[in-house]
Amino acid sequence: MTELQNVLVHKEALQQRVRELGTDISRDYAGKDLVLIGILKGAAVFMADLMREISFPVGIDFMAVSSYGTAATTSGAVIIKKDIDTDIRGRHVLLVEDLIDTGLTLKHLKEHFLNSGALSVRICTILNKPSRRLADVEVEYSGIEIPDEFVVGYGLDYAEQYRNLPEVWVVKTGEE
Ligand code: XMP
Ligand code: MG
Repeated sequence: MTELQNVLVHKEALQQRVRELGTDISRDYAGKDLVLIGILKGAAVFMADLMREISFPVGIDFMAVSSYGTAATTSGAVIIKKDIDTDIRGRHVLLVEDLIDTGLTLKHLKEHFLNSGALSVRICTILNKPSRRLADVEVEYSGIEIPDEFVVGYGLDYAEQYRNLPEVWVVKTGEE
């Protein structure tokens, strides 16, 4: 059985932080050709909010990935389940993620897009669990730091449920 335990990040705090990130990104990339790449499915909600806080036209695309093995055994290599169909060569790429945990997925994706000819690749996440980091990866735009709790809502799921919650909640699982 799964139940929601408590709200960890309220809707207003998410909106406020997304606005600030949009302002930072708008300032840093002014006059540049920027493509936002959202990692499905979790980043869909954040991506929709973030793009509307950027003050100039940007390209957008989405990809879906899954990792090989477990966090403990993986090298961070990922399988691309759905690739982008945008040509990113010579353009600035901003990877948009729901949550950075070990950082292994994003480290791999950053290298992947640099090898594919992007001018630059940075990472933007709405939630960040720095205590769980395994990979040495720079997160240039970090939204809200959270403790090591399993969370759902604002795009994040438990067994494909709860993505539509407007706040971030801590989940209490049956085994605990
Ligand atoms: P990395 O490679 O940074 O992967 O370990 C981060 C991805 O792991 C998932 N993840 C979670 N998903 N609640 C979720 O719904 C969580 O608390 C959680 N922690 C990690 C998520 O897909 C994220 O993109
Ligand atoms: Mg994800």
